[in-house]
Formats: sequence, C-alpha cells, structure tokens
Amino acid sequence: MTFSGPVETNSTQMIDPFGRHVTYLRVSVTDRCDFRCVYCMSENMTFLPKKDLLTLEELDRLCTAFVAKGVRKLRITGGEPLVRKNIIWLFEALSRHLQAGALDELTLTTNGSQLPRFAGQLADCGVKRVNVSLDSLDPEKFRKITRWGNFDQVMRGIDAAREAGLHVKINVVALKGVNDDEHDEMIRWAHGAGMDLTFIEAMPMGDIDGDRSDQYLPLSVVRARLMDNWTLIDIPYKTGGPARYVQASETGGKIGFITPMTHNFCESCNRVRVTCTGTLYMCLGQDDAADLRTPLRSDDSDRLLAAVIDEAISRKPKGHDFVIDRRTNRPSVSRHMSVTGG
Ligand code: GTP
Ligand code: 5AD
Ligand code: SF4
Repeated sequence: MTFSGPVETNSTQMIDPFGRHVTYLRVSVTDRCDFRCVYCMSENMTFLPKKDLLTLEELDRLCTAFVAKGVRKLRITGGEPLVRKNIIWLFEALSRHLQAGALDELTLTTNGSQLPRFAGQLADCGVKRVNVSLDSLDPEKFRKITRWGNFDQVMRGIDAAREAGLHVKINVVALKGVNDDEHDEMIRWAHGAGMDLTFIEAMPMGDIDGDRSDQYLPLSVVRARLMDNWTLIDIPYKTGGPARYVQASETGGKIGFITPMTHNFCESCNRVRVTCTGTLYMCLGQDDAADLRTPLRSDDSDRLLAAVIDEAISRKPKGHDFVIDRRTNRPSVSRHMSVTGG
C-alpha cells in the first residue's frame, strides 16, 4: 500500500478568532446508517448520492492536510462509519500518523453493530478507544429506540472490542420517559465491565418523526437523580471531547456529562468536522460551512486546500444557538446529526 508523503510540519496551526486552537477533527465518512434512532433520523431518510462522496484516498488526503495543520486527535464518525465499504483501508492509511507521532489519537464513534467484524482490525491500526452509542439495556426498548438495531449484535460488538483490547466508552442519549429508569443500571453494567459511560443531552438537529420536547431531558436532572444512589466526585479527567467527568466512588468508574443545552461548552471548543462530501463545518450547531472538495480536486499540492481551511477557521463562530422549543418544534439546525457525526 502506498500513501501520499509524510506530513509537512512547517504549516501554520489553526487558531480561530476567539483564540481557540483547533486540534480535534471529526470526519463523517458516510451519512448512512444501519439503524434509524428516533432522536437522530426519521424512518425514511434520503441520503447523499454515492457519486458525491469523497473517495477513501481523498479522505486520507484531507485528514493528512489537517494533521499538517495541527490536528492531534482524529475521530471517524458517520452515520455509522463501519458500514462504509473498505473503511479499514482508511484506518490503515491514517495509522501512519500515529506511528510518526504526528497524531495522538485515532478513534471512532460507532453504533457497535459492525464491531464483531472489525474490532480486531481496528486495534491493529492503532485504535485504542471506541465510543459505542447504546441507549438501553432492554432489547425491546433498544429496538424501539433504534428502530432497526439488533441488541445482541451490539453486545457481541462490545465484547469483540474489549477482547481486542480496546477501551470502550458507552454514549447514552438521555431520553425522558424512555431510558431514564435505566440510568443506574447502565452505570452498574458499564462500570462492572470496566467501561466509562457518558450521558448526552439530545440536540435539535434535523427533522425527526416525533416531537423533541417530549424526549428532552436536561442532564442537571439526571445528575441530581444519580446522586440519590451514587457518590459523584468531580475529577479533572479530559479526553479532548466536550464531556465533564465525575467518578462514582462505589465503582471507581467514570461518568461523563455532555451538556450542549444546559451548559454551553463552546468556549473551550477545539474541534471542527468534515462530512463525507468534503464540507467543513466549523460548528456542529451552525450552518456556515466551507467546501473542501473543490480545492482538494483542483490542486494536487494541497496549498489551495490549506488556504481554504485557514479562511474557514477565521469564520469559526463563537458557539451554537440550540434551543428545543415546544411552540415551534423546528430543529435549530436542519441537517441531521448523521451528516456531521456529532
Ligand atoms: P471522547 O474522545 O471520548 O471525549 O469523545 P467525544 O465526546 O469527543 O465524541 P463522541 O463522538 O462520543 O461524541 C459524544 C457526543 O458529544 C455526541 O453526541 C456529539 O454530538 C457531542 N459533541 C461532540 N462535539 C461537540 C460539539 O462541538 N458541540 C456539541 N454541541 N456537541 C458535541
Ligand atoms: N442529540 C444528541 N446526540 C445525538 N446523537 C445522534 N443524534 C443526536 C442528537 N440529536 C448521538 C449518538 C452518538 C453520537 C455521535 O451522537 O447517539 O452517540
Ligand atoms: Fe445511526 Fe448513530 Fe444516528 Fe442511531 S444515532 S441512527 S446509530 S447515526
């Protein structure tokens, strides 16, 4: 296998107008998914035409250009990243930046369904951690939330990841009246298996079939309820992501809280995201974007690409304007989470 040359280290770093260093890139390699989670998608989704996708070679070039501009953490997302054909090729290609010391972390966020097939190969590519989205431990409820998901398959995926030596973090979107009765059990289960667990507030992105205000549960409420049963100690643990962590004294395990709605963490934002068509979004919660596909395809030297990235970073907004409002019931951002992968 041959890849385009080593990372040039003399490029400028990415610093936005608010002085924030961009060191974390999230790359959505497909907007498709084998699940249809109720808070994420409608049942009948229109996906991007396959002809618009960047090739895996182009995604590698794009990621490499960002590594040259100071990205130290690369997260592959989707949709479901592991349903993209030949995706392991991209992980193999990108692993050279880990070996060269140019990248601290290569990782992914997945629904777990394809981990029975791919966990070993991901570990071989230098992946050390995976985040697995799992919103219920009850197979029937899991089916209702994901519409199409197979609970046993995801459990096998989590087992396969652990057997391959990967650290697994469980992502739980807090859903009122759906999984709030299971939060304690999920913590016990995850910590019992040596996995951390992060709760996430549902964000108003993209049209879904239901009313988001019915599902929305602030994590301030979740945390207060957890304190009835757990001793939670604030800890300074950081992954480079937006979660703030506590440790449960009873288990020694970590619980993360991602609170885009109740506590805006934008002031410390260090990340941007690229979609599978090469669109750069400087904020998950804003529409402004830059097309990277055109400069990528029109200039082999990556100089134009670097210039377009710099210009886009100079427009990175201060933060998002998410609101979940029962009166309007419109998403704050019209694109679905699966376009940018969170
Ligand atoms: P770690 O490396 O384990 O910290 O992962 P992470 O939290 O960075 O990534 P993950 O893919 O597990 O994302 C968890 C949740 O955080 C998802 O729902 C994302 O949408 C959300 N998230 C990540 N970055 C941002 C952000 O910049 N803004 C908002 N609003 N949400 C974000
Ligand atoms: N709000 C919050 N989290 C979401 N996810 C998908 N859609 C939403 C939403 N609207 C979560 C998934 C996954 C992560 C990438 O984003 O469950 O854990
Ligand atoms: Fe697929 Fe993740 Fe969206 Fe569920 S939340 S439909 S698993 S992309």
